[in-house]
Amino acid sequence: YSLKAYNTFGIDAKANYFFQFDTVDEIQSFLNDNTLENVNYLILGGGSNLLFTDDYDGLVLHPNIKGIKIIEENDDSVLVKAGANEDWDEFVAWAVENNYGGIENLSNIPGVVGAVPVQNIGAYGVEACHVVEKLDAISIESKKQVEFQNFHCEFDYRDSIFKKEYKNLFIITHVYFRLTKKPEFNLEYGAIKKELENYNEVNLKNIREVIIKIRESKLPDPEVIGNAGSFFKNPIVETRFAEKLLAKYPNCPNYEVDNKNTKLAAGWLIEQCGWKGKQVGQAGVHKDQALVLVNLGNAKGYEVLRLANDIKKSVLIKFGVKLEMEVNAI
Ligand code: EPU
Repeated sequence: YSLKAYNTFGIDAKANYFFQFDTVDEIQSFLNDNTLENVNYLILGGGSNLLFTDDYDGLVLHPNIKGIKIIEENDDSVLVKAGANEDWDEFVAWAVENNYGGIENLSNIPGVVGAVPVQNIGAYGVEACHVVEKLDAISIESKKQVEFQNFHCEFDYRDSIFKKEYKNLFIITHVYFRLTKKPEFNLEYGAIKKELENYNEVNLKNIREVIIKIRESKLPDPEVIGNAGSFFKNPIVETRFAEKLLAKYPNCPNYEVDNKNTKLAAGWLIEQCGWKGKQVGQAGVHKDQALVLVNLGNAKGYEVLRLANDIKKSVLIKFGVKLEMEVNAI
């Protein structure tokens, strides 16, 4: 079963088995009929944050659950229940059209609703954990439906319990978002404020428009060039270490995380090592954003991985900084 259409890197990997389900009942009866105890399996949403390094020797489970529904409403906010396979950006567009605030800064991110909490997607000063109130998931082991509140999810920078202890143990079926009717705009990211000067009003629609424009100017469209967004996380280092680095490289972008830690820009570090725009076989480093690795046509997953490892090595040698993959290699 070809997975090419199920990963934004456009890698032509194959899986032995593929099961798609439209409802919670359907996956529960599948799990009741088939024990997955001794089977390799993978829960695959929009495939926008993974890299197949080889064919997948196992079963792919693909939630196809749809639906967007307001289930609670008061003067200040709405609680919206969204199916795991709703396209994330269509959901953001829906929210903005209805003037519900909170996710406009997360415009134009590829992927589906079910994956949003797994890696706690984030951009331009907003993270999914600010708006995810709770979620429903099916436990693969017990086959029962389990509700996770926000605090159960152990959200962190591009991280959650679903990437750690509970990795591959739960299938997220629905996510509940608390969106506000009285938006407070998050414009801390300089480029947004600047672009908004061209508009006569700051509102959700204009913020969304500006963010789409900024993203389109540096991030490749996966429909055109295969990619999975940022390939590495921005590394968090001890501030003491960052200060030494800054003495040597005063232009190195850095952001305070807390009183001990500083976040560096992986894209900058990679660009300084000379990788921006480089091609190695069918794999490459995007010409406008060095943090994004791309499939230039028919790249094999292992080619992309080899390039990623070479990049990691050179950043470690030049800066003493260890990059960690953001994308899930399978
Ligand atoms: N930079 C370079 N060269 C590059 C890329 C970046 O010098 O090739 C510099 C920029 O000039 C800037 C700094 O690095 O000073 C940060 O760059 P940018 O604002 O483009 O954001 P980023 O840190 O590279 C992160 C997220 C993105 C998110 C943006 C905006 C991670 C891993 N990535 O990228 O998320 O859209 O901030 O908030 O945190 C994703 O996760 O897939 C993703 C695209």
